[in-house]
Amino acid sequence: MPIRRRAVLGASLLAARRAAAQELPPLREIAARRGIGFGTAIHARLLGEAAYAAPIAREAALLVPEGEAKWDSLQPREGRFTLEELEPILRFADRNAQAVRGHTLVWHTALPAWVWQAPAPRLRGILEAHVAGVLALTRGRIADWDVVNEPIADPDVLPHQDLRDSIWARAMGEGYLDLAFRTARAADPAARLVLNDYGLEASWPRADEKRARLLRVLRGMLGRGAPVQAVGIQAHMPLDQPFAPSPFAAFLRQLRAMGLDVLLTELDVIEPAGAPLREEDIPARDAAVAARAHAVVSTALAEGCRTVLTWGLADPWSWLNLWPPARRPDGAEVRALPLDGAGRRKPMWHALARAFEGR
Ligand code: G3I
Repeated sequence: MPIRRRAVLGASLLAARRAAAQELPPLREIAARRGIGFGTAIHARLLGEAAYAAPIAREAALLVPEGEAKWDSLQPREGRFTLEELEPILRFADRNAQAVRGHTLVWHTALPAWVWQAPAPRLRGILEAHVAGVLALTRGRIADWDVVNEPIADPDVLPHQDLRDSIWARAMGEGYLDLAFRTARAADPAARLVLNDYGLEASWPRADEKRARLLRVLRGMLGRGAPVQAVGIQAHMPLDQPFAPSPFAAFLRQLRAMGLDVLLTELDVIEPAGAPLREEDIPARDAAVAARAHAVVSTALAEGCRTVLTWGLADPWSWLNLWPPARRPDGAEVRALPLDGAGRRKPMWHALARAFEGR
């Protein structure tokens, strides 16, 4: 066959395959067939951009606000609770038959100045009032909350204590965790109450230690009767950290044996900070990202996880490319998510679809 004809045939074959790939049902549908909720994080301020919003409306059954359900958005001044930043996301979800996760009631950051400046003895009352005040507004509209985010100390930062250093820990020790969950339960009896953290996935000593710390803290909470129902595993997966299914699966089995649900709440796959990210390497880069995503998600699903969210859906709007503290010094775009900037489904999209189908 003459070369030119072969090239034309190749190009049309590729176009046909691309068209077919776009025709596959959305991830929300593929996941739902096996009782899995799939979703993604979302920015209210980007909803006016069709290139950003349309794929989210199509692919996601769940949404989690990247910033609009944090303390500095929900109670910017003491006693002034507001859903004004969150409302556009709640309305978008209503229009697209999506559910919204709450992220997050109590965290060591994203706090307004009035909280930072509060005297320590006031923090117990301030925490209780925030959790109760927010849930009074979101009850019936948000049924799944990260009540506390990232309470466990990173072993390389604090080698000898389980609890992250924060204004809450300093004021109340582990008691702030119990207080947050008890207050949330009292304020919204129907909500699923989640403790969310990161660095729990890799197969290396630092993650082993963080998993051990989280298990100790959870055992303490459950022993004291704190109503924690689930653990959100953020699953931000740096490719330069080793991942093997078995230590992660064993950890998930321990959580499930404690009667806890497990969720993957912030999945993305982070290309190595030290490596150059070249255009010509995109096929190999995308394949590596897809393989890691498939390994993590299929392991979690095999251990009973039924909720999977990515932290963004399309690469250009990932926090890794948008958020100044996370952006690469060389400015190269990290390809961490299921779609590219044109909304095309990347190998990671297909890897998630395969994992949801049990393949
Ligand atoms: O809303 C303001 C906007 O009015 C203003 O114009 C803009 C410019 O500065 O800032 C906007 O707020 C930013 C917010 O993202 C938007 O959602 C904050 O400055 C910025 O600090 C905030 O960054 C978020 C960060 O958490 C801190 O809250 C990132 O988008 C978000 O991806 C990141 O997400 C965290 C999870 O909550 C916890 N797990 C790790 C994950 C990644 O760091």
